[in-house]
Amino acid sequence: MLNVDEAILSRRSIRAYRPDPVPRVTIEHILEVARRAPSGTNTQPWKVHVLTGGALQRLSEAVLHAFWNESEQHTNDRTNYLVKWRDPYLSRRRKIGWDLYDLMGIKKGERERTQKFHAKNYEFFGAPVGIIFTIDRDMGWMSWLDYGMFLQNICLAARGQDLHTCPQASWGSYHEVVEKVLGLPAHELVHVGMSLGYEDIDAPQNSLKTVREPLEQFAAFHET
Ligand SMILES: Cc1cc2nc3c(=O)[nH]c(=O)nc-3n(C[C@H](O)[C@H](O)[C@H](O)COP(=O)(O)O)c2cc1C
Repeated sequence: MLNVDEAILSRRSIRAYRPDPVPRVTIEHILEVARRAPSGTNTQPWKVHVLTGGALQRLSEAVLHAFWNESEQHTNDRTNYLVKWRDPYLSRRRKIGWDLYDLMGIKKGERERTQKFHAKNYEFFGAPVGIIFTIDRDMGWMSWLDYGMFLQNICLAARGQDLHTCPQASWGSYHEVVEKVLGLPAHELVHVGMSLGYEDIDAPQNSLKTVREPLEQFAAFHET
């Protein structure tokens, strides 16, 4: 089993998977471990919809239909990052996009190829398991923070099973379709999706190495 540092350092967002199924007992194990995440006043604000087989395919087909035919009708119901992008966030966002498209051989302005790659989000990048995470609509900032801890636990517990993940905000853009296909009650808001499966090591997009800011850029030590 990987130690904690190894699990953290070997986690990457994987955007192409082998079709090999993940046993249900393994998925359950990951969720059993992940539910030990801390949450303010132990509220545990997460709700998980695990999709495999026909259920995954149905959701994928419905969202892809919306993506290709009526994308202008679908928007997120919240601000995910910034209303108006600015640096340093904008440069970081652009870099990962360019690096990814570079690996795929997609050039600037190749709109159709860019769209086709983006659409892979809605097939969970070929993963045999797709997870949709929901949260009660009226929950506040701390609950969203709790949720992040839970999601990272899943990513790390997956590494312990030799599995990889990709968290996906993209599902939020088609929340109405997801709500309909999964029959979600009105109080459940689509938070994010996540792909889960075995990495396709031959896929160029999986060789992406993302960078991080050095410690001195984001950490201040106040000692005296
Ligand atoms: C909340 C969240 C949402 C994300 N949404 C997407 C997404 O919709 N599609 C995608 O390809 N990657 C998505 N990512 C992956 C990020 O692009 C990735 O974490 C970041 O570039 C750092 O790369 P790494 O995860 O490989 O270390 C998301 C990550 C997080 C944490």
